[in-house]
Amino acid sequence: MTMIITPLGDALGAAVTGIDLTGPVAPADIEAMQAALRDYLVLVIRDQKMNPEQYLAAIRLFGETMPQHLTDWLMPEHPEIAVLDSRRIPPDPDGIVKQPGSRDWHTDHTNHAKPPKVTALYAISLPSSGGDTGFANMHMAYDALPGTVRAKLAGMKTVNKIENFIYVSDEDKQKYGGGQVHPLVRTHPETGKKAIYIHPGKTERFVDMAPDESHAFMDELMGTIIRPEICYRHKWQVGDLLLCDNRAVVHLAYDDYDHSEGRVMQRIILEGDVPA
Ligand SMILES: [Fe+2]
Repeated sequence: MTMIITPLGDALGAAVTGIDLTGPVAPADIEAMQAALRDYLVLVIRDQKMNPEQYLAAIRLFGETMPQHLTDWLMPEHPEIAVLDSRRIPPDPDGIVKQPGSRDWHTDHTNHAKPPKVTALYAISLPSSGGDTGFANMHMAYDALPGTVRAKLAGMKTVNKIENFIYVSDEDKQKYGGGQVHPLVRTHPETGKKAIYIHPGKTERFVDMAPDESHAFMDELMGTIIRPEICYRHKWQVGDLLLCDNRAVVHLAYDDYDHSEGRVMQRIILEGDVPA
């Protein structure tokens, strides 16, 4: 079996075929996958059949795992893995069920001082239609902005807090509540490229800006930067193992499917560093 890496579009993303992560993986293949993740920012490793131990071993080829704050959804035997199951999501106070990651384009877990460098999602079960995930290249978003806007964003910082969702326990709010301050523009520690770095749902406000003004600015910014040319929309297949570089990519889970059909993803996040 020969490993093949194929780009998934002009903006970001590459597919990896011809590799079985349950067996020994050749050092050259590990290096090629790590390089592809660095270059393409989203990597889709197809046709994997892994138990949780094998999944953890495969993901550790890319970094160290870190705790997730959705503690109710963690696998009891393997708390590094969260099981995101569309049938288990409780409704909002207004009675509407919204899937995790479906409210805004965002990067993950910005309520941490060291947010995850990578989010991994492993597709276990999928609805009969819909349930894609969109990814947007934040290097391209930054590069496309006029110099005057870039200069303004360069000095801005976000204040990040965990959301007040019904599925976030009080204990998790205490432990991972945040108030973390991150730069709005960060430099990728491996490539040196600049990216817009933001989680609108967790951004309480910008430093030195009122919440209302902050949210209006953020809405306008997101509306400007997310354009089709910088996006890749992933149509899942069971067995896809997808890795996303949170330092340079925002994502959105399309909430356009029948939740009762069971869209099940196993999620692991990998330790990152302090955004700068
Ligand atoms: Fe997410």
